[in-house]
Formats: sequence, C-alpha cells, structure tokens
Amino acid sequence: MIIEPRMRGFICLTAHPQGCAQNVVNQINYVKSRGAIDGPKRVLVIGASTGFGLSSRITAAFGSGAATIGVFFEKPAQEGKTASPGWYNSAAFQQEAKKAGLYARSINGDAFSDEIKNKTIDLIKKDLGQIDLVIYSLASPVRTHPKTGVTHRSVLKPLGGVFSNKTVDFHTGVVSTVTIQPGTDEDVANTVAVMGGEDWKMWIDEMMKAGVLADNAVTVAYSYIGPAVTEAVYRKGTIGKAKDDLEATAFTITDDMKGINGKAYVSVNKALVTQASSAIPVIPLYISLLYKTMKEKHIHEGCIEQIQRLYADRLYTGKQVPVDVSGRIRIDDWEMRDDVQEKVATLWEEATTETLPAIGDLAGYKTEFLNLFGFAVPGVTYGEDTNELVDVEGLI
Ligand code: NAI
Repeated sequence: MIIEPRMRGFICLTAHPQGCAQNVVNQINYVKSRGAIDGPKRVLVIGASTGFGLSSRITAAFGSGAATIGVFFEKPAQEGKTASPGWYNSAAFQQEAKKAGLYARSINGDAFSDEIKNKTIDLIKKDLGQIDLVIYSLASPVRTHPKTGVTHRSVLKPLGGVFSNKTVDFHTGVVSTVTIQPGTDEDVANTVAVMGGEDWKMWIDEMMKAGVLADNAVTVAYSYIGPAVTEAVYRKGTIGKAKDDLEATAFTITDDMKGINGKAYVSVNKALVTQASSAIPVIPLYISLLYKTMKEKHIHEGCIEQIQRLYADRLYTGKQVPVDVSGRIRIDDWEMRDDVQEKVATLWEEATTETLPAIGDLAGYKTEFLNLFGFAVPGVTYGEDTNELVDVEGLI
C-alpha cells in the first residue's frame, strides 16, 4: 500500500515501516560513532519500542554489546492498515541486532499485568539467567491493576486552581490560551496508579523473588522536571504527583535490592517530542522555543543523544554515579541551564501565532513529530508501494 501520514488530533494513525527502520539505523549509527561503553551485558527494557526506552535498548545493544529483552505494547499491521510505529521500530531493531550477532528478544503485551512479568522472567531464566540493568520507560494513559482489577486512567491537570497559559496546535501553528480545570484527589490517585512507582517496584520485587537480577544490578526509571511555565500542568500537576511517587519509589527499591547490592535510580531527562509529550497542553509550545534556543547554542539533543550520555557519562564511567540533592541523575542539565531558561522565558512572552515561526522551532517540532511515525525521514522514498505487513523477529 502507499503509506501517507493520516493525522487525527495529536496522533498520527499511520506509520511507515521503512521510515521507522531508518530512524532505528540512524540511532544505531549515532551510538556506534560515540564509541564503546563499558556497560551492562544483559539488559531488560520495559517500554522498549519508542522514545527513551527504544534509545535505551539501542544504546545497551550497540554501545555495550548487550543482550536485550524488550517489553512493549504495540499493534501489528493488518492487511491495508499499518502497524504502530513501535512495532516497526522493534522489527528493525531485531533485524539490526541479528545482523550484529546480538541476542534480542521482544515481548508484546501489557507490562502492568502479572502475565507479562511472568513471561519475561521465564524468558530471562531460560536464555540469560540474570539481568544487569532494568530500564523502566513506560508512558501510558491507562493501567489495569493486576491485583484489584481496577482500570486507572491518568489525567494531565493542574492542582489547586484553574490554570491558563499559552499553548500551540503544532499542526496549524496557532498559538492560543488553554484553560484547564484543576484535578481532584481521585485524579491524583489514578494518575499516580498509572505513572507512579508501584508497577516499577512490582517488576523489581518479582525479579528479586525469581533470582533473575545479577549482583550489583541497576534499575533506572525516567522523570521530568522542567521550567516554571509548565510547572502548573506538569511538575505541580497530577503527573508531577506521579513523578514524585516514582522518585520516592527509587529509594524503596534500592532497599529491596540490598541483598544483591543493587541500586535504583531516577534519571531526569530533557523535554523531547515523543508520542507521550505531544499530548500534554503547553508542552509543545515550550518544546518549540526550547529546541530553537538549544539548537542555536549547539546543545540540542534527541532521545538517543540523551541516553548515550546517560550511559557513557553518568551510569558507566567506572566512578560513582553523580546525583542531585534528591538522589536523581540529571541529564536535563543543558535544558535547565540558566542561559537557556532565561532565553526561553523571554521568548515565551513574545510567542504568538505570528511570531512563533521565527522565534520558535515549529518546523523542527512538526518534522520530529512526523519522524516518530517514520515520515519525513531523509533517505526514505515515500509514495511507493510498501508492504505494511512486517514481522518482528524474536517475538516471544
Ligand atoms: P513513549 O510514548 O515514546 O514510549 C512509551 C513506551 O511504553 C512504548 O515502548 C510503549 O509501547 C510502552 N508502553 C506503554 N504502555 C504499555 C503497557 N501497558 N505495556 C507495555 N508497554 C507499554 O514515551 P517516552 O516519552 O519515551 O516516555 C518514557 C518515560 O520517559 C516516561 O516515564 C516519561 O514520563 C519520561 N520522560 C519523557 C520526557 C519527554 O519529553 N518525552 C521527558 C522526561 C521524561
């Protein structure tokens, strides 16, 4: 079929297999160009098919030569209907790992369920024995709790009062004011249930019980802080409560891993265009101003640059892992630099529909959004008949 982008709201309904594959190859080439990392050899990535999780898998495999198991929740293609981008990304990753002689297996299913945890642990026992690094990189709007059966839905709302600020529809470039009603206690509880630390802890507890974590194993989950302009809707909103919970859980998990001298970290990452972040009001406008500023200063990074730096300059330097006063790894350091934030704050005041194309990187945002689905990727020929039915090899 001829595959073209079909947008609906904040999502794209189609994905291009060759474009997704090219993105994966580009990330692999970047990691290789940075040289070998003396890192982990057996790695489990939960949320491995897109965004930071995909980059974490690629960095482990092609930076450290690691055997990887990836868990994700993606849709395969049907005749005439493309797969989700994470499916095509994973198909390409599996192919490239095979070519490089690297062990790689993938599990497609609900990571919040007991079933997928058990399946993953059985696979580890069978093939790898133990794991040195567990990356926890899920971004989901919904979680069915495995013990209660209750389905929780996360929401992106401010707390304590109505919030109004600028936002942009990045498809049209129109800057407008968005007003969001505050969340309730129930909204907070649901958002914490989906995006907080409980499921991360369940994974590690089950893995500890099964004896599949190696001595000195490390686990890392991802968080975000960001600037004052997004604070009400992000860090001080419902999602921020979930991130507070995730960050606090790192300490509990480290205690649980004492017997193997293990350690749980939260890494605070930079704001980036991913499927998850595009759905948050206010954030796309902030990102387009941030990208412009960081590109001008030659310190712009995407997921792969961020994660390569996380492994090479933070986790696997042979020295103690540097953390902030709250015990978190910071790879948002360049985003949060005073000169960057001061510039973005000034641009924020100036941003209107008319000014944004010049003062913000709206074009970069749009392109990166299309890239997530395998479109507008340099070197890929579009408009040709393409087989949408692609298998993920190594799928268990
Ligand atoms: P993403 O949407 O690109 O990736 C999410 C991953 O989770 C995919 O692999 C997807 O298949 C998987 N997934 C979702 N629900 C699942 C389920 N029920 N079972 C199994 N797999 C499931 O998201 P992104 O942006 O890479 O986010 C990952 C983490 O990084 C999140 O914790 C997010 O808050 C954090 N983060 C994101 C930032 C951003 O700007 N995008 C900035 C800093 C942190």
